[in-house]
Amino acid sequence: MHRLTLRIATKTLFGEDINTVDSTAGEVLQEILKCQKSSSIQLFPFDIPGLVFHRYLNLLAQYETKIKKIIADKRAKGINDNDVLSMLIQARDEESGHPLSEEELIAHTGVIFLAGHETTANALTWTIFLLSQHPQITGDLVNELDSVLHGEAPTLEQLHQLPLLERVIKESMRILTSVPWNGRVTSETTELGGYEIPKGTEVVVSIYHTHHMSEIYQDPEAFKPERWETINPSIYEYNPFSAGPRLCLGATFAMMEIKIVLAMLLQHFRWEYVPGQTIDRVGVISIKPKYGLSMMVRSQDREFSNGVGNVEGNIRETVKLP
Ligand code: HEM
Repeated sequence: MHRLTLRIATKTLFGEDINTVDSTAGEVLQEILKCQKSSSIQLFPFDIPGLVFHRYLNLLAQYETKIKKIIADKRAKGINDNDVLSMLIQARDEESGHPLSEEELIAHTGVIFLAGHETTANALTWTIFLLSQHPQITGDLVNELDSVLHGEAPTLEQLHQLPLLERVIKESMRILTSVPWNGRVTSETTELGGYEIPKGTEVVVSIYHTHHMSEIYQDPEAFKPERWETINPSIYEYNPFSAGPRLCLGATFAMMEIKIVLAMLLQHFRWEYVPGQTIDRVGVISIKPKYGLSMMVRSQDREFSNGVGNVEGNIRETVKLP
């Protein structure tokens, strides 16, 4: 899934296929995310060889070098209007007319590279996993896809004719939200839930907990796409892409991408869970399966009950599984 979403991201965001963009930037990024999970980074933030923090700084420097190369290659090959990196390079401040500084350009490109594939890969992985454990829903979904798409890729118009696909994705991103939290700093002293929060306080908002509140979602640990037929939570009650002015820049892009990928993968293949794995959630920015998630890829023979059950790990605290 990482490789797939990385390929989609490099093509659409940077206008290059993964083979031409330095794909090792993705690997360095994975190492950075691994380091972020280590508490040693907070406890011993010293640039001393042997410490995780030292390795973390080195990886960040490597990442920056790779992002600089992506930008340099784009400039050398020529800017066009078809990708996000070209737009960033050409962007001008409305008032001053200045372009982004080199530092800003590197930072934005680095964030978009991360945000543009890691989250979507995890959302796809979790959705395919949840479907593998819910054969009835998967059967209904494959029926819907077949009846509208007949084995083909969806057109833009057809994407709106797949209500169950939309519900499955929404429910998957509710129960196993890719990004579990976001942070804000109060710009003025305020009150929240009876607590006074002074100006300048860092507040962590848990998307994960909001999505598991039984006041909003009955039986919150159950994977029930059909609940979306009758509920319509506000953006502050359901916010896998966050809310407000800093809402995810790629929300619409990601939803479309996930729909197209699932439509293609499910029409042609059956994804069978390989029993005996431990599925633990892990992640600081984006939640993923700690040890990966192995699936057997079969041609679509509609034997949806194969591979159901025998799931171990802390994933069972988050979602009810057979
Ligand atoms: C399932 C996929 C995705 C999920 C769950 C997701 C979720 C989020 C969340 C929760 C935030 C934090 C917003 C905040 O601080 O309030 C965010 C920010 C962001 N996302 Fe996504 N995202 C996804 C895919 C994408 C994609 C595909 C792109 C790029 C095309 C993208 C680009 C960004 C950017 C640039 C930001 C920073 C926005 C800002 O600070 O103004 N995301 N995303």
